[in-house]
Amino acid sequence: MIDALVIGASGMVGGSIYALGRQRGFDVAGTYSSFAVPDLHQLDASDNAAVQSLVSTLEPKVIFLPAAFTNVDACERDPSLSQRINVTAIENVARACQRTGAKLVSFSSDYVFDGLSGPYLESATPNPVNVYGQHKLEAERIAASVGALVLRTNGVYGAEVQGKNFVLRLVQGLRAGQTWRIPVDQFGNPTLADDLARAAWDGLALAGVYHAAGSHFCDRYAFALEIARVFDLNPTQLEAVDTPSLGQAALRPLCGGLVSTFSSNTSRNKGVLHTLKANCPKVQVDDICAKRSKPCSRPHRQSARSRLAQPSRARHARGAATLLGQ
Ligand SMILES: NC(=O)c1ccc[n+]([C@@H]2O[C@H](COP(=O)([O-])OP(=O)(O)OC[C@H]3O[C@@H](n4cnc5c(N)ncnc54)[C@H](OP(=O)(O)O)[C@@H]3O)[C@@H](O)[C@H]2O)c1
Repeated sequence: MIDALVIGASGMVGGSIYALGRQRGFDVAGTYSSFAVPDLHQLDASDNAAVQSLVSTLEPKVIFLPAAFTNVDACERDPSLSQRINVTAIENVARACQRTGAKLVSFSSDYVFDGLSGPYLESATPNPVNVYGQHKLEAERIAASVGALVLRTNGVYGAEVQGKNFVLRLVQGLRAGQTWRIPVDQFGNPTLADDLARAAWDGLALAGVYHAAGSHFCDRYAFALEIARVFDLNPTQLEAVDTPSLGQAALRPLCGGLVSTFSSNTSRNKGVLHTLKANCPKVQVDDICAKRSKPCSRPHRQSARSRLAQPSRARHARGAATLLGQ
């Protein structure tokens, strides 16, 4: 029997969860699907027999499921593939959790909302505007049926092994002399993968949907400008555009973002790039987006803060230790 299995440990969020768990001394195993990483098990989570077999072999007390098909436009173009990875996979994992009693922690998105009035509270009514959002909402409902903790997040970035998140791709592109067209009308609160991983471990004893996202609400272009500043790159290579001019396959919930239970209650999550700074020596920032933030709407924010009589971080941590018998 092991403490935890991370399905999707070769991805950004899964990589952070896997690393943090081992750092905290837990017995953690992880999986990859197509991007082979040493020491991880290969698993296609849409294959029910394979999921049941791996879970029976490892007997994890907790299953983290960050595995997903996260390319929003590709999901729009291939809904059946999105269905298989974003919905069928969680059905299989939920079945394994029900069978073995393992606790499920899954991940969702602000894309379950329509983007008319973000940042959103947990109590806001979902209304997805694209295939990815619809499938993430379906996945949330499956997770709820087995008492899972579901963490909704948005705009995740970090020092991941595959280097494919917005921050790392932008830095690479600007360094290569490319010009990037960035939307000024897509709002959210960028989230550091390591902060999300911390929320996942600390929240183990919780069930239900919680928002876990960065504390600075800003538009994508403002975020890109700040990344350029931090990495000493040329901001004139960034072109501010509106979303329709990008011709993206999937509609975007423009005024997205999440009022975050975890970040609002912690001081750790203040500087969006602070941990990346430790991992990438060239980064010199601890406060991304704060100065350039252009909120499209924050009607809920004040009431959200007063509403946040949530369990403290210490209680979360105690909960995790109890769940894992420590
Ligand atoms: N990134 C964001 O900005 C963002 C925003 C909101 C919500 N989220 C949610 O956060 C979670 C983690 O996202 P992420 O950015 O870490 O994703 P990611 O970096 O794209 O990682 C996805 C992971 O899923 C694995 N995977 C893909 N297909 C699979 C399959 N059929 N069976 C098993 N594993 C499979 C991938 O494995 P291989 O790479 O080895 O193929 C990879 O490990 C997802 O639930 C996502 O919806 C992310």
